[in-house]
Amino acid sequence: MIYFSHVTKTYEENWKALSDVTFRIRKGEFVFLTGHSGAGKSTLLKMIYMDERPDDVRGGQVMVRFDKDFVYDSKTTKESKVQGFRRKMGVVFQDFKLLPDRNVFDNVALALRIVGTPASRLNAAVFEALTLVGISQKRFAMPYTLSGGEQQRVAIARAMVHNPYLLIADEPTGNLDPENAEEVFKIFKEINARGTTVVMATHNPDFYMNSPFRRLSLSHGELLNKEIL
Ligand SMILES: Nc1ncnc2c1ncn2[C@@H]1O[C@H](COP(=O)(O)OP(=O)(O)OP(=O)(O)O)[C@@H](O)[C@H]1O
Ligand SMILES: [Mg+2]
Repeated sequence: MIYFSHVTKTYEENWKALSDVTFRIRKGEFVFLTGHSGAGKSTLLKMIYMDERPDDVRGGQVMVRFDKDFVYDSKTTKESKVQGFRRKMGVVFQDFKLLPDRNVFDNVALALRIVGTPASRLNAAVFEALTLVGISQKRFAMPYTLSGGEQQRVAIARAMVHNPYLLIADEPTGNLDPENAEEVFKIFKEINARGTTVVMATHNPDFYMNSPFRRLSLSHGELLNKEIL
């Protein structure tokens, strides 16, 4: 589903955030992304959700294949098509990024409203997503009245409301206490068990040391566990 082939990303001043990174993630997998601060985790995730592309000349290639007719290719896909691909995935960040002036329901509903989803379908989908993360009883609450763990669950519901093929999380438990972090991790595992591919950057060894899932480790922009495509 996700293919990185010799991906290099240089930011200004010749700073290589990623260097010759090659790996593959299959449909339905749960994969951790680990590495020290500045190792390149967020940069790698941005390439998957198409916010960045590899360097122009010999910078490698990123492909994300949702189904056989729907393939993003960092070398050829036009920027105008990227929004359509993004709708096939959900993204969750460390700092939740909820809209402070909208309640829980409206935060989760927003993406469906933008694409003109009819009210009855929209209501059902929002309720299902809020139930998945166990927070439907707070649907009329404003974000500032929620705990960090609850806000992150709303953010996960927002990412899942359009049934994405792929869920990307960039240190989703970084701002949470251990109990809430564990709770949020459980939700990710449940989402994966239902069939969604999950890629999660994390600093939390409790997660990756005690899980059967694969781990990609970055150090100074290089993948430590090199894989053959
Ligand atoms: N937009 C940018 N412009 C210039 N340099 C950048 C940019 N984004 C990231 N970098 C640099 O690229 C390197 C990798 O950054 P990245 O954010 O991918 O690391 P990270 O592994 O996510 O770190 P953290 O654990 O702190 O989130 C860092 O040295 C960072 O300073
Ligand atoms: Mg980061």
